[in-house]
Amino acid sequence: MKKVRKAIIPAAGLGTRFLPVTKSMPKEMLPIVDKPTIQYIVEEAIASGIEDILIVTGKGKRAIEDHFDFAPELEQNLREKGKLELLDKVQYSTNLADIHYIRQKEPKGLGYAVWCARNFIGDEPFAVLLGDDIVQSDTPCLRQLMNIYEETHSSVIGVQTVPDNETHRYGIVEPSVQEGRRYQVDNFVEKPAPGTAPSNLAIMGRYILTPEIFTILDKQQTGAGGEIQLTDAIQKLNQIQRVFAYDFEGKRYDVGEKIGFVKTTIDFALQNPELRSELLTYLDEVMDELKVK
Ligand code: UTP
Repeated sequence: MKKVRKAIIPAAGLGTRFLPVTKSMPKEMLPIVDKPTIQYIVEEAIASGIEDILIVTGKGKRAIEDHFDFAPELEQNLREKGKLELLDKVQYSTNLADIHYIRQKEPKGLGYAVWCARNFIGDEPFAVLLGDDIVQSDTPCLRQLMNIYEETHSSVIGVQTVPDNETHRYGIVEPSVQEGRRYQVDNFVEKPAPGTAPSNLAIMGRYILTPEIFTILDKQQTGAGGEIQLTDAIQKLNQIQRVFAYDFEGKRYDVGEKIGFVKTTIDFALQNPELRSELLTYLDEVMDELKVK
Protein backbone atom coordinates (compact mmCIF):
# COMPACT_ATOMS: atom_id res chain seq x y z
CA MET A 1 0.00 0.00 0.00
CA LYS A 2 1.28 3.47 -0.87
CA LYS A 3 1.57 5.81 2.13
CA VAL A 4 0.04 9.28 2.29
CA ARG A 5 3.18 11.44 2.22
CA LYS A 6 2.13 14.63 0.47
CA ALA A 7 -0.41 17.33 1.23
CA ILE A 8 -1.96 20.14 -0.77
CA ILE A 9 -3.06 23.34 0.94
CA PRO A 10 -5.20 25.35 -1.50
CA ALA A 11 -4.79 29.04 -0.70
CA ALA A 12 -5.58 30.72 -4.00
CA GLY A 13 -9.14 31.88 -3.25
CA LEU A 14 -10.12 35.55 -3.36
CA GLY A 15 -11.34 35.69 0.25
CA THR A 16 -14.25 37.94 -0.72
CA ARG A 17 -15.96 37.44 2.65
CA PHE A 18 -13.07 39.33 4.23
CA LEU A 19 -12.90 42.30 1.90
CA PRO A 20 -11.45 44.88 2.13
CA VAL A 21 -8.60 43.33 4.15
CA THR A 22 -8.10 40.62 1.51
CA LYS A 23 -7.58 43.23 -1.20
CA SER A 24 -3.86 43.17 -0.50
CA MET A 25 -3.47 40.43 2.11
CA PRO A 26 -4.13 36.69 1.79
CA LYS A 27 -7.01 35.44 3.96
CA GLU A 28 -4.76 32.54 4.96
CA MET A 29 -2.39 35.03 6.66
CA LEU A 30 -5.06 36.42 9.02
CA PRO A 31 -3.58 35.99 12.50
CA ILE A 32 -5.15 33.90 15.22
CA VAL A 33 -3.50 35.74 18.13
CA ASP A 34 0.11 35.80 16.87
CA LYS A 35 0.25 33.05 14.23
CA PRO A 36 -1.20 33.16 10.71
CA THR A 37 -4.02 30.72 10.09
CA ILE A 38 -2.04 28.77 7.49
CA GLN A 39 0.70 27.99 10.01
CA TYR A 40 -1.79 26.09 12.18
CA ILE A 41 -2.72 24.06 9.09
CA VAL A 42 0.91 23.32 8.19
CA GLU A 43 1.57 22.27 11.80
CA GLU A 44 -1.38 19.85 11.68
CA ALA A 45 -0.05 18.29 8.47
CA ILE A 46 3.44 17.83 9.95
CA ALA A 47 2.04 16.43 13.23
CA SER A 48 0.06 13.94 11.14
CA GLY A 49 3.23 12.62 9.45
CA ILE A 50 3.09 14.49 6.12
CA GLU A 51 6.55 14.93 4.57
CA ASP A 52 5.96 17.33 1.67
CA ILE A 53 3.51 20.21 1.39
CA LEU A 54 2.38 22.07 -1.71
CA ILE A 55 0.63 25.39 -1.16
CA VAL A 56 -1.49 26.50 -4.12
CA THR A 57 -1.22 30.28 -4.27
CA GLY A 58 -2.40 33.00 -6.61
CA LYS A 59 -2.16 36.74 -7.15
CA GLY A 60 -1.40 38.78 -4.04
CA LYS A 61 -0.31 35.77 -1.96
CA ARG A 62 3.42 36.49 -1.65
CA ALA A 63 3.12 37.02 2.11
CA ILE A 64 2.51 33.28 2.51
CA GLU A 65 5.83 32.41 0.86
CA ASP A 66 7.66 35.10 2.84
CA HIS A 67 6.23 33.75 6.10
CA PHE A 68 7.78 30.31 5.61
CA ASP A 69 11.01 31.69 4.13
CA PHE A 70 14.34 32.51 5.80
CA ALA A 71 14.34 36.11 7.13
CA PRO A 72 18.05 36.89 7.68
CA GLU A 73 17.75 40.62 8.50
CA LEU A 74 14.94 40.10 10.97
CA GLU A 75 16.84 37.23 12.61
CA GLN A 76 20.00 39.34 12.87
CA ASN A 77 18.04 42.19 14.45
CA LEU A 78 16.39 39.91 17.04
CA ARG A 79 19.74 38.25 17.85
CA GLU A 80 21.45 41.61 18.40
CA LYS A 81 18.66 42.77 20.69
CA GLY A 82 18.75 39.51 22.64
CA LYS A 83 15.11 38.72 21.79
CA LEU A 84 15.84 35.02 21.63
CA GLU A 85 12.32 33.76 22.29
CA LEU A 86 11.02 35.70 19.29
CA LEU A 87 13.99 34.53 17.23
CA ASP A 88 12.94 30.96 18.02
CA LYS A 89 9.41 31.65 16.78
CA VAL A 90 10.68 33.23 13.55
CA GLN A 91 13.07 30.34 12.86
CA TYR A 92 10.42 27.77 13.75
CA SER A 93 8.14 28.81 10.88
CA THR A 94 11.10 28.76 8.45
CA ASN A 95 12.16 25.25 9.39
CA LEU A 96 8.73 23.66 9.79
CA ALA A 97 8.59 21.63 6.60
CA ASP A 98 9.58 21.23 2.98
CA ILE A 99 7.07 23.61 1.44
CA HIS A 100 6.56 23.96 -2.31
CA TYR A 101 4.41 26.46 -4.17
CA ILE A 102 2.44 26.55 -7.36
CA ARG A 103 0.32 29.39 -8.69
CA GLN A 104 -3.28 28.89 -9.70
CA LYS A 105 -3.67 31.37 -12.54
CA GLU A 106 -7.41 31.97 -12.11
CA PRO A 107 -9.56 31.44 -9.01
CA LYS A 108 -11.73 28.81 -10.70
CA GLY A 109 -12.60 26.85 -7.59
CA LEU A 110 -11.24 24.30 -5.15
CA GLY A 111 -11.41 21.46 -7.69
CA TYR A 112 -9.22 23.47 -10.02
CA ALA A 113 -6.76 24.32 -7.22
CA VAL A 114 -6.34 20.60 -6.45
CA TRP A 115 -5.97 19.78 -10.17
CA CYS A 116 -3.09 22.31 -10.37
CA ALA A 117 -1.16 20.02 -7.99
CA ARG A 118 -1.39 16.87 -10.15
CA ASN A 119 2.27 16.80 -11.23
CA PHE A 120 3.49 17.36 -7.68
CA ILE A 121 1.38 14.48 -6.40
CA GLY A 122 1.91 11.96 -9.21
CA ASP A 123 0.46 8.49 -8.71
CA GLU A 124 0.00 8.32 -4.93
CA PRO A 125 -2.71 9.03 -2.36
CA PHE A 126 -2.52 12.51 -0.87
CA ALA A 127 -4.09 14.87 1.67
CA VAL A 128 -5.89 18.17 1.17
CA LEU A 129 -6.22 20.66 4.03
CA LEU A 130 -8.19 23.85 3.51
CA GLY A 131 -6.66 27.04 4.76
CA ASP A 132 -9.87 28.22 6.47
CA ASP A 133 -10.53 25.38 8.89
CA ILE A 134 -8.49 24.96 12.06
CA VAL A 135 -9.17 21.81 14.07
CA GLN A 136 -8.09 21.32 17.68
CA SER A 137 -8.03 17.67 18.72
CA ASP A 138 -5.99 15.18 20.73
CA THR A 139 -5.09 13.21 17.59
CA PRO A 140 -4.52 15.68 14.72
CA CYS A 141 -7.56 15.70 12.44
CA LEU A 142 -5.60 14.72 9.34
CA ARG A 143 -3.95 11.84 11.25
CA GLN A 144 -7.44 10.50 12.10
CA LEU A 145 -8.27 10.40 8.38
CA MET A 146 -4.89 8.85 7.51
CA ASN A 147 -5.62 6.05 10.01
CA ILE A 148 -8.87 5.30 8.15
CA TYR A 149 -7.00 5.36 4.83
CA GLU A 150 -4.52 2.84 6.23
CA GLU A 151 -7.42 0.52 7.19
CA THR A 152 -9.46 0.91 4.00
CA HIS A 153 -6.98 1.98 1.25
CA SER A 154 -9.77 4.29 0.12
CA SER A 155 -10.39 8.02 -0.09
CA VAL A 156 -11.65 9.50 3.19
CA ILE A 157 -13.47 12.80 3.62
CA GLY A 158 -13.59 14.58 7.01
CA VAL A 159 -17.11 15.54 8.10
CA GLN A 160 -18.89 16.96 11.14
CA THR A 161 -22.55 17.56 11.94
CA VAL A 162 -23.95 21.05 11.29
CA PRO A 163 -27.42 22.43 12.16
CA ASP A 164 -30.21 22.32 9.53
CA ASN A 165 -29.95 26.03 8.77
CA GLU A 166 -26.27 25.72 7.76
CA THR A 167 -26.28 22.72 5.40
CA HIS A 168 -26.63 24.94 2.29
CA ARG A 169 -23.18 26.40 2.97
CA TYR A 170 -21.30 23.08 2.75
CA GLY A 171 -20.70 19.96 0.73
CA ILE A 172 -23.04 17.39 2.34
CA VAL A 173 -22.79 13.59 2.36
CA GLU A 174 -25.67 11.16 1.97
CA PRO A 175 -24.50 8.28 4.15
CA SER A 176 -25.53 4.65 3.74
CA VAL A 177 -23.92 2.28 6.25
CA GLN A 178 -22.51 3.71 9.50
CA GLU A 179 -19.58 1.89 11.15
CA GLY A 180 -18.77 3.85 14.34
CA ARG A 181 -17.53 7.25 13.19
CA ARG A 182 -17.01 6.01 9.63
CA TYR A 183 -19.68 6.11 6.94
CA GLN A 184 -20.10 4.53 3.54
CA VAL A 185 -21.52 7.18 1.29
CA ASP A 186 -24.17 7.09 -1.45
CA ASN A 187 -23.83 10.69 -2.62
CA PHE A 188 -21.83 13.85 -2.13
CA VAL A 189 -23.78 17.07 -2.84
CA GLU A 190 -22.21 20.55 -3.00
CA LYS A 191 -24.22 23.30 -1.25
CA PRO A 192 -27.72 21.74 -1.41
CA ALA A 193 -30.61 24.24 -1.50
CA PRO A 194 -32.06 24.90 2.00
CA GLY A 195 -34.36 22.07 3.08
CA THR A 196 -33.00 19.58 0.52
CA ALA A 197 -29.83 18.32 2.28
CA PRO A 198 -29.67 14.50 2.46
CA SER A 199 -28.09 14.68 5.97
CA ASN A 200 -26.40 17.10 8.37
CA LEU A 201 -22.93 15.66 7.78
CA ALA A 202 -20.88 18.46 6.25
CA ILE A 203 -17.49 18.27 4.55
CA MET A 204 -15.01 20.18 6.72
CA GLY A 205 -11.86 20.88 4.76
CA ARG A 206 -9.83 17.71 5.36
CA TYR A 207 -9.52 15.03 2.68
CA ILE A 208 -7.46 11.97 1.78
CA LEU A 209 -7.83 11.31 -1.94
CA THR A 210 -6.56 8.69 -4.34
CA PRO A 211 -4.82 9.94 -7.52
CA GLU A 212 -7.76 8.80 -9.71
CA ILE A 213 -9.39 12.11 -8.70
CA PHE A 214 -7.09 13.88 -11.20
CA THR A 215 -8.48 11.92 -14.17
CA ILE A 216 -11.93 13.08 -13.09
CA LEU A 217 -10.83 16.68 -12.53
CA ASP A 218 -9.30 16.68 -16.05
CA LYS A 219 -12.85 16.66 -17.39
CA GLN A 220 -14.76 18.30 -14.53
CA GLN A 221 -17.20 21.02 -15.60
CA THR A 222 -18.06 24.03 -13.43
CA GLY A 223 -20.73 23.48 -10.78
CA ALA A 224 -22.26 25.53 -7.92
CA GLY A 225 -21.15 29.17 -8.00
CA GLY A 226 -19.63 28.75 -11.48
CA GLU A 227 -16.58 27.07 -9.91
CA ILE A 228 -14.95 23.69 -10.47
CA GLN A 229 -16.14 21.91 -7.35
CA LEU A 230 -14.02 19.27 -5.62
CA THR A 231 -17.21 17.77 -4.15
CA ASP A 232 -18.59 17.06 -7.65
CA ALA A 233 -15.38 15.25 -8.58
CA ILE A 234 -15.54 13.23 -5.32
CA GLN A 235 -19.12 12.24 -6.18
CA LYS A 236 -17.81 10.78 -9.46
CA LEU A 237 -14.84 9.13 -7.74
CA ASN A 238 -17.31 7.40 -5.39
CA GLN A 239 -18.95 5.79 -8.43
CA ILE A 240 -15.73 4.03 -9.46
CA GLN A 241 -14.15 3.31 -6.04
CA ARG A 242 -15.26 3.52 -2.39
CA VAL A 243 -15.03 6.92 -0.72
CA PHE A 244 -15.64 7.01 3.04
CA ALA A 245 -16.75 9.90 5.22
CA TYR A 246 -15.25 10.12 8.70
CA ASP A 247 -16.82 12.12 11.51
CA PHE A 248 -13.54 13.28 13.04
CA GLU A 249 -13.05 14.10 16.73
CA GLY A 250 -12.13 17.63 17.70
CA LYS A 251 -13.33 21.21 17.68
CA ARG A 252 -13.40 22.78 14.24
CA TYR A 253 -13.03 26.53 13.82
CA ASP A 254 -14.29 28.20 10.66
CA VAL A 255 -11.78 30.97 10.18
CA GLY A 256 -13.01 31.73 6.64
CA GLU A 257 -15.98 33.82 7.77
CA LYS A 258 -16.08 36.80 10.08
CA ILE A 259 -17.94 35.49 13.11
CA GLY A 260 -15.94 32.24 13.01
CA PHE A 261 -12.73 34.24 12.88
CA VAL A 262 -13.72 36.34 15.92
CA LYS A 263 -14.77 33.26 17.94
CA THR A 264 -11.53 31.48 17.04
CA THR A 265 -9.49 34.49 18.12
CA ILE A 266 -11.29 34.64 21.49
CA ASP A 267 -10.93 30.89 22.15
CA PHE A 268 -7.23 30.83 21.24
CA ALA A 269 -6.55 33.97 23.29
CA LEU A 270 -8.29 32.31 26.27
CA GLN A 271 -5.99 29.30 25.84
CA ASN A 272 -2.93 31.57 25.94
CA PRO A 273 -1.65 31.89 29.53
CA GLU A 274 -0.26 35.40 28.86
CA LEU A 275 -3.64 36.71 27.72
CA ARG A 276 -6.24 34.65 29.52
CA SER A 277 -6.82 36.51 32.76
CA GLU A 278 -6.77 40.01 31.23
CA LEU A 279 -9.13 38.91 28.46
CA LEU A 280 -11.54 37.32 30.96
CA THR A 281 -11.62 40.55 32.99
CA TYR A 282 -12.30 42.50 29.80
CA LEU A 283 -15.07 40.14 28.67
CA ASP A 284 -16.70 40.49 32.13
CA GLU A 285 -16.58 44.29 31.76
CA VAL A 286 -18.14 44.11 28.31
CA MET A 287 -20.94 41.85 29.59
CA ASP A 288 -21.61 44.18 32.54
CA GLU A 289 -21.81 47.20 30.24
CA LEU A 290 -24.26 45.37 28.01
CA LYS A 291 -26.43 44.49 31.04
CA VAL A 292 -26.51 48.15 32.17
CA LYS A 293 -27.81 49.14 28.70
P1 UTP B 1 -13.35 29.34 0.05
O1 UTP B 1 -14.46 29.39 -0.91
O2 UTP B 1 -13.67 29.28 1.50
O3 UTP B 1 -12.33 30.56 -0.14
O4 UTP B 1 -12.38 28.17 -0.36
P2 UTP B 1 -12.45 31.89 -0.93
O5 UTP B 1 -12.99 31.65 -2.29
O6 UTP B 1 -11.09 32.50 -0.82
O7 UTP B 1 -13.42 32.73 0.02
P3 UTP B 1 -14.68 33.64 -0.30
O8 UTP B 1 -15.81 32.65 -0.43
O9 UTP B 1 -14.36 34.40 -1.54
O10 UTP B 1 -14.79 34.51 0.93
C1 UTP B 1 -11.75 27.28 0.58
C2 UTP B 1 -10.26 27.22 0.35
O11 UTP B 1 -9.96 26.90 -1.01
C3 UTP B 1 -9.07 27.85 -1.57
C4 UTP B 1 -9.20 29.10 -0.69
O12 UTP B 1 -8.00 29.85 -0.69
C5 UTP B 1 -9.55 28.54 0.67
O13 UTP B 1 -8.40 28.26 1.46
N1 UTP B 1 -9.41 28.10 -2.98
C6 UTP B 1 -10.67 28.46 -3.33
C7 UTP B 1 -8.43 28.00 -3.94
O14 UTP B 1 -7.26 27.67 -3.64
N2 UTP B 1 -8.74 28.27 -5.24
C8 UTP B 1 -9.98 28.66 -5.62
O15 UTP B 1 -10.20 28.90 -6.83
C9 UTP B 1 -10.98 28.75 -4.63
